[in-house]
Amino acid sequence: MRNKFLILSIIIFVLALLYVIYNNISEENILPLTNSWEKAIPNQEIPQGLSSLSAKQCGVCHQQHYNEWKLSTHAHAWTDLQFQAELKKESSPFMCINCHIPLQNQQEHIIEGLIDGDIYKPVKKINPNFDKELQQEGINCASCHVRNNTIIGPTGTKKAPHATIKNSAFLSEQLCISCHNAVAVITPTLACSFETGDEWKSGPYFEKKNCISCHMESINREIVSGYGERSSRLHYFAGSGIPKFDTVETKIMNGLGIYPSALKSIYSKMDSIIFTVKIKNEFAGHNVPTGDPERFFNISFQLKNNNGTILSTKTSRIGEHWEWYPEAKKLADNNLTPNEERLFTFSYQAIKKGSLTLLVKITKHRLNKESADYNNLKDNYPLFITVFDEEYAIEVK
Ligand code: HEC
Ligand code: HEC
Ligand code: HEC
Ligand code: HEC
Ligand code: HEC
Repeated sequence: MRNKFLILSIIIFVLALLYVIYNNISEENILPLTNSWEKAIPNQEIPQGLSSLSAKQCGVCHQQHYNEWKLSTHAHAWTDLQFQAELKKESSPFMCINCHIPLQNQQEHIIEGLIDGDIYKPVKKINPNFDKELQQEGINCASCHVRNNTIIGPTGTKKAPHATIKNSAFLSEQLCISCHNAVAVITPTLACSFETGDEWKSGPYFEKKNCISCHMESINREIVSGYGERSSRLHYFAGSGIPKFDTVETKIMNGLGIYPSALKSIYSKMDSIIFTVKIKNEFAGHNVPTGDPERFFNISFQLKNNNGTILSTKTSRIGEHWEWYPEAKKLADNNLTPNEERLFTFSYQAIKKGSLTLLVKITKHRLNKESADYNNLKDNYPLFITVFDEEYAIEVK
């Protein structure tokens, strides 16, 4: 009898001990979020004087800003088919959304911490302020202009019907860099590598021109009709110019100066036909291409005779090379740094008389066909644009 009682007490004691240990472990092991990109911008209240945080609402008064922003990739940062495809993969952790829909109001869940610090084990709570319409807008006006329930602007004008505060330090290139520079190996096969901010800081434009002076052209105009002209900035955020949807018009910025060499129009048999194109990163304040490591340029030469037979081809590439398995690793990078120039040469020895055509084509790619297929992107997702396309007639006599 006494023995049974003893055994029972021991069992109860052990269970209680296990319970205490278990609880301590699970409490201790929820670790807080540390990196800036792991955190959303806290839920915002609608600034005083407005009825919604949505870009559409801002656009009722700020019509031009709205129409410009609508064409930007920022407006498509959530609906982007490539982003949605990548987000659905199990390898994509919770924080993928924090630069694409940065406001907590745009996110279904509030992340309170990580179990064991594991990015694949976020502790989630339903967000009572989740707004699905806001989510569709990606990086919207409020992402850059609303903090502490107030509109942040460059002057803090008293003319606005909404709560407004001046903060030019906040609306500086630092805002851009907070998303456009992230270098982290998240898991062995998943690496983030956007170094646009660092490329700019270490380049010749630092303290001369910044993200805003190049990507948001200044202009005098009314920012709300009837309020009179003031200094303003265009909100297209134009970049590489490869559209996200073939139905939406895009603004383009050109980083490259492209200089083809002169070509004689008449050659003799056994002459070497030599053609060179000089490509210079002339206008960008960072590498070209920059940002997503999957971007690249193709420089292709093709020589044909007058029957259309291809006599010779040559293709070169500007971009990064990565190996993703078993470990994410950059193998090579020949992106053009600011002001860097490179020569691409095609040569061919003419062996026969006749009329030849040299086709020179330079294309700018968002990602290659294999990655697009792997992500099941349909044919109407634009993968590249052509930035140079010329034909040269050559006579071999
Ligand atoms: C009911 C009309 C209206 C709506 C809606 C509205 N604004 Fe404004 N906003 C104004 C007016 C008027 C001004 C001042 C115009 C001027 O300075 O010429 C202004 C000024 C601004 C400024 C400049 C502030 C500064 O410091 O110079 C910013 C930025 C701004 N609004 C952003 C927004 C955003 C973002 C939204 C949506 C969340 C929004 N506005 C919605 C009317 C509106
Ligand atoms: C909240 C994060 C965030 C902020 C802040 C931000 N961006 Fe972006 N930006 C992005 C994301 C994400 C994309 C890509 C969206 C996509 O492709 O789906 C992007 C795309 C762009 C592009 C277009 C790239 C292309 O070729 O398609 C340019 C240019 C750009 N941003 C410039 C800027 C500038 C200038 C600023 C500062 C005024 C800025 N961004 C602030 C996240 C941000
Ligand atoms: C001196 C002007 C200049 C400055 C400064 C500048 N950019 Fe650019 N940026 C360009 C040009 C031009 C392009 C177009 C490059 C191309 O595709 O030919 C570009 C392209 C981009 C792209 C598209 C990606 C790509 O591969 O084409 C992004 C994103 C971008 N810039 C972000 C930024 C950010 C963020 C900053 C600040 C850290 C910045 N830029 C500073 C001129 C500039
Ligand atoms: C990626 C960040 C970003 C987004 C998105 C954005 N803005 Fe801006 N906005 C800025 C910056 C930066 C400035 C300029 C600050 C300066 O000139 O010093 C600015 C300036 C303004 C101004 C002041 C007048 C002017 O044109 O300079 C208004 C008004 C404004 N934005 C409205 C909007 C509206 C409306 C939207 C959405 C349709 C929007 N912004 C989206 C970054 C952004
Ligand atoms: C630190 C902010 C940040 C985080 C976190 C982030 N992104 Fe992005 N993402 C960007 C920026 C900035 C761009 C635009 C880069 C450019 O155009 O140069 C972008 C562009 C993209 C694009 C479009 C690429 C293209 O060439 O148009 C995809 C797809 C994407 N991100 C997927 C993801 C996935 C998946 C994750 C999570 C693993 C993620 N992003 C996390 C900032 C971020």
